[in-house]
Amino acid sequence: MQRLTGGIVRFPLLGALLVVGGCASGAELDTLNPKGPDARLIDGLSDPVFIVAGIVFLIVFGGTGYLWWKFRDRHEDEEYPEQIHGNFRLEILWTVVPTLILLVIAIFTITTLTDLSRYEDNAMALTVDGESTSWEPEVVVVGQQWWWEYRYYFEGLDGVDLSDARNLPPADIVTANQLIIPTGQEIELKITSRDVIHSHWIPALNGKRDAVPGRITYWKLEADDPGVYFGQCTEFCGLSHSRMRMQAVALTPTDFQKWVDQQVRSAGTPTDPAAVAGQQIFEAQCARCHVINGINGPNDETPSSGADLVANAAPNLTHFMSRTTFAGGIFNLYHPDGSLDRTRLEAWLRNAPAEKPAYAQGRRGMPAMGLSEIEIDNVVAYLETLGIRPSANIIVATEVE
Ligand code: CUA
Repeated sequence: MQRLTGGIVRFPLLGALLVVGGCASGAELDTLNPKGPDARLIDGLSDPVFIVAGIVFLIVFGGTGYLWWKFRDRHEDEEYPEQIHGNFRLEILWTVVPTLILLVIAIFTITTLTDLSRYEDNAMALTVDGESTSWEPEVVVVGQQWWWEYRYYFEGLDGVDLSDARNLPPADIVTANQLIIPTGQEIELKITSRDVIHSHWIPALNGKRDAVPGRITYWKLEADDPGVYFGQCTEFCGLSHSRMRMQAVALTPTDFQKWVDQQVRSAGTPTDPAAVAGQQIFEAQCARCHVINGINGPNDETPSSGADLVANAAPNLTHFMSRTTFAGGIFNLYHPDGSLDRTRLEAWLRNAPAEKPAYAQGRRGMPAMGLSEIEIDNVVAYLETLGIRPSANIIVATEVE
């Protein structure tokens, strides 16, 4: 008897623990806290479905528990209870009621899916390189082991060949792991992958959508207010899948314009001796994979290496300092006080695979470059010249754990 009571007490405790274990206030990937119209559509469907499912759960389990208790064997007689088989009215009832419930849910689900696959013809006025244009907000998203690339083509994507994700045409802005968007605009995403299947998911702004090599999948996002919305790759894509994170940073249209003004610029030439030395190391070692517009970008007259042809394979570093995370959105580039996290960055340059697991063959992820400590210092000095640091509140809001 004691064993039985123990089991009864422990089982609900375990259940409660499992349920509560999924709760956290202010969680980065909270699916129940929509911050834009698309996410609100999903929330507007899942909330009532959850309530209906909860009521069904209570009725079924409550009823089962009640019957189990009321008709338990009391050892009062040895007779079997009356054996009943079949009850026409009951069987009709428990077939019709769930059918009706599922039918109602299906109608709302299909309506929501239809709404989510409808795209607006919105446009926003932007100045790019001194010229006014009307941009229908769209961003090409490329998943790769293990980071996200975001490419902006301000003249639209008509005639832009996206069929080969490994060799995409030059874009106006290429950034990594932080998708910068203007508020109040529907942003169309064209999602693809350079290697395996990934899944792009920023729960506060919309649901998931797979990134499939050789294919473009359409999706959209919209944020009501300026803010930082965390995301995570949600398709198992290899060793560092859990370390493939991203953020959408929503800015007011004015701040977005300022960001565009900064990002379309090429990198300048450093003057500080350490940074000059760092640039030489970059060109000799890093430029095989990384692009810096102004050094070896696709529009540069004398690209120093083949990186502009193939790589798209590593993050474009032209505005490295304007991002606040690196290595697939898992490390903070800055301390909360706004100063550079030099130790982190140096550790990454010293031996990247030790910081973020990659495949043993070294074919994926950043390899250990075998740089000396002085070379690392110089490369950091050079990287510090690339791009403008974001505001203190963005640095704090984008901080990852
Ligand atoms: Cu990319 Cu999981």
